[in-house]
Amino acid sequence: MSAAQSEALAPGPSVESVPSYLSETYSWAYLNPRNLRWLDNSLVVSSILWGNAGRLMRAAAAEFEPGQRILQAACVYGRFSEMLAHQVGNTGQLEIVDVAPIQIANVRRKLSAYPQVRSRRGDLTLPLGKRYQGVCCFFLLHEVPAEQRSRIVDNLLSAVGPGGKAVFVDYHRPSRLNPLAPLMSLVFRLLEPYATSLLDTPIDSLSPQATDFDWHRRTLFGGLYQHVVATRRSLTEFPPSRRQP
Ligand SMILES: C[S@@+](CC[C@H](N)C(=O)[O-])C[C@H]1O[C@@H](n2cnc3c(N)ncnc32)[C@H](O)[C@@H]1O
Repeated sequence: MSAAQSEALAPGPSVESVPSYLSETYSWAYLNPRNLRWLDNSLVVSSILWGNAGRLMRAAAAEFEPGQRILQAACVYGRFSEMLAHQVGNTGQLEIVDVAPIQIANVRRKLSAYPQVRSRRGDLTLPLGKRYQGVCCFFLLHEVPAEQRSRIVDNLLSAVGPGGKAVFVDYHRPSRLNPLAPLMSLVFRLLEPYATSLLDTPIDSLSPQATDFDWHRRTLFGGLYQHVVATRRSLTEFPPSRRQP
């Protein structure tokens, strides 16, 4: 491990420089170096997603094409970034943005063998200032309070170039017949305080730019998960206020 990575894995400064919703609610999951080591494991991720991690990740990665320049909005435990890196291939580019220095150090370690991957620290509630052919947001929105969630969706849509797509994979309100519904409601109440506000909120209602996109949503696993694709219509011009370099 390099000196920079060791420094970023130290707990103090990373906790102070992240949004309060993250340090107050999810410090144990994303900012604690000891927990990161066992949580960042495909078996753990698969268990948390009831065995659906592989298919959710594969379906999200399959939305993108070799050679594309895509953004992964926040780090994800397990092998998702690796899948995206394979999908864009060595003629493409994957940029990963996360607000937590410890997560950036971790993803750099995990993906050091992939020259097509860049990662940097950044807060997705702030404009990205760049455009991509694709943007992928995997299980971030349910961990963010409603106000910041809208800003993130708006910023991600702004970052999609003409003809490009934004892919959101996240929790959704399970059907009443889903036997996991009561347990998941308890999990959300105890561990995921912002998730409930996402369950009944269509992602396309979170940004005024949604009308510039064609939206397709499907739900999986008895409605517990949603896979949403927003494709920017090719002829849509960026409003002057949102025009980016
Ligand atoms: C993508 S979400 C959860 C993913 C999923 N639960 C998993 O298996 O990893 C977790 C990441 O979001 C990051 N994050 C939260 N708020 C953010 C923000 N405003 N900007 C950038 N990254 C953010 C956290 O630092 C954390 O690394």
